[in-house]
Amino acid sequence: QQTIKVALLGLGTVGRGVYRILTGNAVNIAHKVGAPVEISRILVRDLTRDRGILLDPALLTDNYQDILDDPEIDIVVEVMGGIHPALDYVMAALKRGKSVVTANKDMIALHGKELFAAAEASGAGLLFEGSVAGGIPIIRPLKQCLAANRIQEIMGIINGTTNYMLSKMTREGVDFDRALREAQAKGYAEADPTADVEGLDAARKLAILASIAFNSRVTLNDVYVEGISKITARDIAYARELNYVIKLLAIAKETSEGIEVRVHPTMIPQNHPLASVNDVFNAIFVRGDAVGDTMFYGRGAGELPTGSAVAADIMDAARHIIHKVPGFIGCTCYEEKPIKPMAL
Ligand code: NAP
Ligand code: HSE
Repeated sequence: QQTIKVALLGLGTVGRGVYRILTGNAVNIAHKVGAPVEISRILVRDLTRDRGILLDPALLTDNYQDILDDPEIDIVVEVMGGIHPALDYVMAALKRGKSVVTANKDMIALHGKELFAAAEASGAGLLFEGSVAGGIPIIRPLKQCLAANRIQEIMGIINGTTNYMLSKMTREGVDFDRALREAQAKGYAEADPTADVEGLDAARKLAILASIAFNSRVTLNDVYVEGISKITARDIAYARELNYVIKLLAIAKETSEGIEVRVHPTMIPQNHPLASVNDVFNAIFVRGDAVGDTMFYGRGAGELPTGSAVAADIMDAARHIIHKVPGFIGCTCYEEKPIKPMAL
């Protein structure tokens, strides 16, 4: 029986989650895929660091060529983050016909177009469910289950770090710096947490969601972005007096003037469904012309929730290989649509 061999690029928060799920649920996963799925190599920078998991040290390498040149490795899982060298590594894997699973929203938001073209050319898969909203299924629902709709609006909380921080500041009066340190300690924040607090992480995710929802190409530069770094305890207290809470919202709409995409702190009434989304939880509201209103809710960051999304993508790629299912859904077939200029 064929075993599907997987290489992880990175063994940090997300990599550890994927490792725990693929090893801990191995029997269940093998039954669902139709073959065992095995981690056969792991790329890290530091070969000596204690990773806090039971691990055969022979799996570790600090040389990507070991993975690229191994013909037995079917799926490359990029959970290292950043653009360089992640982009080169992913591109090289796709060109060799290895399917790629990634949680890297920076890379998809900036270089999705060329990556999908490379995946289409080689017939490999490029899957990225973990790149938006951690463990919440949202990429696949937009691409598949809601595909027949004209999507009219997406609105939600899609950054776990800032939602955790705003929740702590609102409910416990914790100050901004301490709330950020706690979010970092829990593994929610990006390597450079400025991306979280200044709204860039949410903007990258919104660009990905809007591209899929409106079947167009929305980039980070198209998104109006304002983060939470200027929100003070006083703003939160004033909002509370008025029966409002402050949330960092990501909003995308298709309008007659073009696609509108923006991320900014917003005062929302305390009885609004998004007002009770707290801590690391994310929630995404999607309105389609046929389905009406839908809402997706769950943990938007962290080791096991994000590992859950990445591991499911690995299983999907593995099923394609085992059962020789041709073609992955949706790649470069999109329309060019205008972006509505934002004058805020
Ligand atoms: P992390 O904890 O910083 O882990 C990064 C891992 O990649 C580390 O194991 C590191 O190796 C390895 N790495 C980084 N650069 C490398 C290089 N040049 N060569 C070899 N190995 C390298 O990051 P993370 O939080 O897991 O995030 C990974 C990705 O998932 C990012 O794209 C992030 O945006 C995305 N993501 C994260 C979350 C989350 O909750 N954290 C959720 C969704 C998506 P060493 O350990 O040896 O340093
Ligand atoms: N830093 C991101 C967040 C990780 O806090 O939402 C999940 O994408």
